[in-house]
Amino acid sequence: MKTILFSTAIILSFFSKAQLISYTHYSKQITMTTNTISQTQVQGTMFELPKLPYSYSALAPYIDARTMEIHYEKHHGTYTNNLNAAIKGTELEGKSIEYILSTISKHSAAVRNNGGGYYNHNLFWSILSPNGSEKPAENLEISKAIIKDFGSFDEFKSQFSQAATTRFGSGWAWLSVDASGKLFVSSSPNQDNPLMDVAEKKGTPILGLDVWEHAYYLNYQNRRVDYIAAFYNIINWNEVNKKYLEAKK
Ligand SMILES: [Fe+2]
Repeated sequence: MKTILFSTAIILSFFSKAQLISYTHYSKQITMTTNTISQTQVQGTMFELPKLPYSYSALAPYIDARTMEIHYEKHHGTYTNNLNAAIKGTELEGKSIEYILSTISKHSAAVRNNGGGYYNHNLFWSILSPNGSEKPAENLEISKAIIKDFGSFDEFKSQFSQAATTRFGSGWAWLSVDASGKLFVSSSPNQDNPLMDVAEKKGTPILGLDVWEHAYYLNYQNRRVDYIAAFYNIINWNEVNKKYLEAKK
């Protein structure tokens, strides 16, 4: 049996033999046999490492190819494998990663660390681009929302950079959407994130910056501030805008 990871947005209307499905994201697990797909066939499902949407060298000189290769293959790959091992045979097998994270206080440290690591890196790769830019285009909704909720782009950038700089040890800086649709900046330790029920401030992350040393040490050594500054050259604001609109629905 071949297992494949699909989205909560999967259109599950009528699956029959060899019927194609459409999807928008990689968060819902279902099981596919050679010619039949069914939402009820969830046993034995696994999360999969998503393909990078660019080459390892594409983000240089801001993030170097060797760092990308190790970060993606070794770190993200290990979180993915360990998450699958941690949920195998439990009631979490077959559940979406969003559900797992939203109930994380009930689960083991292994699920928390590796589930967070799996989701966070999926998001991180998706909001980076070799064609990125510091600011979103003015006509994007995320641009208008940043100005509305922070006063200016510079104020957002200041808050985000501060969150990334001051997060002690390993963790993440986030731009998220709260339950009322408002943007906020936060940071989290380790592989935690704002989706988790243990988060100080909960919301849907739409932009994240990995400030673990494994994300920058080869090129920047102890200079996290330089890595944070470089990040603003490779942000895929079109993708952030898409996540913003989805989170507001
Ligand atoms: Fe990382």
